[in-house]
Amino acid sequence: MSKQRIAVAVDGPAGAGKSSISKTVAKQLGYLYIDTGAMYRAVTWAVLEAGINPADEKAVTELLSKLTLRMEPTADAFNIFVNGQDVTGLIRSQAVNGAVSQIAAIKAVREFLVAQQRAMAGAGGVILDGRDIGSVVLPNAELKIYLTASVEARAKRRWLETPDKESVSLEDIKKSVMARDEMDTNRKESPLVCVPEAIVINSDNLSFDETAARMVQLITATEK
Ligand code: CDP
Repeated sequence: MSKQRIAVAVDGPAGAGKSSISKTVAKQLGYLYIDTGAMYRAVTWAVLEAGINPADEKAVTELLSKLTLRMEPTADAFNIFVNGQDVTGLIRSQAVNGAVSQIAAIKAVREFLVAQQRAMAGAGGVILDGRDIGSVVLPNAELKIYLTASVEARAKRRWLETPDKESVSLEDIKKSVMARDEMDTNRKESPLVCVPEAIVINSDNLSFDETAARMVQLITATEK
């Protein structure tokens, strides 16, 4: 009998490697990968582009009715569009990094995106990564993983990925990662949480390939 493809929720703090690992694992298993962080980043980009103050919840909420997001899968990952404009690269800027957790704390933004995430997740064969996937977006996911690592390891990984290392120090990145963790964990709406049923993977002493292999093993063991 063919195996039942499942829904996998991957949550964890900033820079734990959720996106890159989930993307690789999804490709290997032929699953759909949905990066929900990219959706919060795209809304944040649109807010900044419109000249709206991220603290102005009313203006941010009003903007939502004018936004259409589209994720288009590519061979390696996906491109993300806001009202038809490809913002895939633009959503990784320092400006977006600095404002995204503030935008993600707004209830209307979360409702707007969670509805789209659930619709995209459909009937299974999906990996979603974010902060509230196991707790809010897909509470019935067959497998929940909490991927974490020490703040030092996470900041270092992020710094190694940064193209302009001269303009951003490791210390700056560490501060930005810690500030996002703080906001994401302590916000009122859908905070980052490790649900009791999640399997915790701490990648401090695991390589990329070892972490991906562990995730593949957990998924194949959960598929019926
Ligand atoms: O990849 P990285 O760890 O830098 O973060 P991300 O997944 O791109 O998410 C960026 C930000 O979006 C997070 O710091 C959260 O503030 C927010 N987010 C969220 O609130 N809920 C999600 N499901 C995903 C992201």
